[in-house]
Amino acid sequence: MKKILVLNGPNLNLLGKREPSVYGNHSFDSYFEELGKKFSEVELHYYQSNVEGELINKLHEVGFTFDGVVLNAGAYTHTSVAIADAIKAIETPVIEVHISNVYAREQFRHKSFLAPNVKGIITGFGLQSYDLAIQSFL
Ligand code: DQA
Repeated sequence: MKKILVLNGPNLNLLGKREPSVYGNHSFDSYFEELGKKFSEVELHYYQSNVEGELINKLHEVGFTFDGVVLNAGAYTHTSVAIADAIKAIETPVIEVHISNVYAREQFRHKSFLAPNVKGIITGFGLQSYDLAIQSFL
């Protein structure tokens, strides 16, 4: 059974309540349940943190045993050399996902420090971005 971690960064715990016009009104917990049903052949794990170092610790923890990480690093995407280094340091491939189309938004969201170290990027498909990323690992 493939092991895949969905890893969400800062403010993504507020999905459903946060700027619904941009991020929708679905909570991540209920969406994750749907993913679990859809991908019953996968051992799907989920972790969310608002703390940069905790995201890095999680990448280290799974990064030599899991088959894939689907990472929405939120705003850390645009700022974090440390998360970019962690992705480079581990063996497990990471896919960067975004709910919104970051390239249709402010200029500061166009830069991803993670991009050179990830397998690929899926941006702008709403919560379906996560689903597409999981599919690509199968
Ligand atoms: C986001 C886009 C980021 O720019 C933003 O900081 C987020 C969410 C997205 O999923 O669209 O927190 O990663």
